[in-house]
Amino acid sequence: MERIVLPELLDVLPPQDQSALRSRRDLRRLNAWMRHPRIMARLLQTYLADADARHIVELGAGDGHFLFSVAKRLRGQWSGAKASLVDQLNALDPQLAGAFKHLGWEVRAEVAEASAWLRQTSPMATDAVISNLFFHQFETEALAEMLRLTARSARVVIALEPRRTWLPRICGRLLWVIGCGPVTCHDGHISVRAGFAGRELSALWPDQQNWELVERPVGLFSHLFVARRKE
Ligand SMILES: C[S@@+](CC[C@H](N)C(=O)[O-])C[C@H]1O[C@@H](n2cnc3c(N)ncnc32)[C@H](O)[C@@H]1O
Repeated sequence: MERIVLPELLDVLPPQDQSALRSRRDLRRLNAWMRHPRIMARLLQTYLADADARHIVELGAGDGHFLFSVAKRLRGQWSGAKASLVDQLNALDPQLAGAFKHLGWEVRAEVAEASAWLRQTSPMATDAVISNLFFHQFETEALAEMLRLTARSARVVIALEPRRTWLPRICGRLLWVIGCGPVTCHDGHISVRAGFAGRELSALWPDQQNWELVERPVGLFSHLFVARRKE
């Protein structure tokens, strides 16, 4: 299946628009179904096991609920963690600030285009750059540049994306059955067509020698990419 990138509605709707708010609620449910928070929490525990002070950047963080679900799973182990939530829209759920604090996390919302934001940070400014359902929104050239910028910024990069195969494609057309709204149904179908297969992200990684790369299917619907800088 050829990779096709088309614009998604959630990227252009004002964050407070009712249909955008509904779609972000749908995403929380879909993330839970796909087990993305659980998968990301395990990966962070594995890849940042020895980090003293944990600082994470999440690109395309949306309303922040994805990272909050991850943080809840790391409860008691990651107190003192710091996170920068980067999104081009000011979509962060204001109620989450206190909730993160309660878990001992310090979070900062950065309303900015992700590449532009990464470009103005210092090299190795963070331990990990993570993203969930984000990289698929970029055409090859912009994606290669985004990956180059993440490699410059962190020693671990983790992405969870839609997998571009037949099962996610069929299910992506049936999101209305599980109660998703029109924006999610539109974007879900588009996201799978723009998703990844094989080693497409590894092929765009800027430095194949000094990084260990993992890229594989995860769960029924998802595609995992991890890059770790070699010691
Ligand atoms: C599919 S949503 C995923 C949100 C969140 N990661 C989640 O799992 O709920 C993609 C997010 O990426 C943001 N986004 C899209 N293009 C962006 C860019 N170039 N820079 C920063 N954020 C971007 C959108 O505003 C949106 O919140």
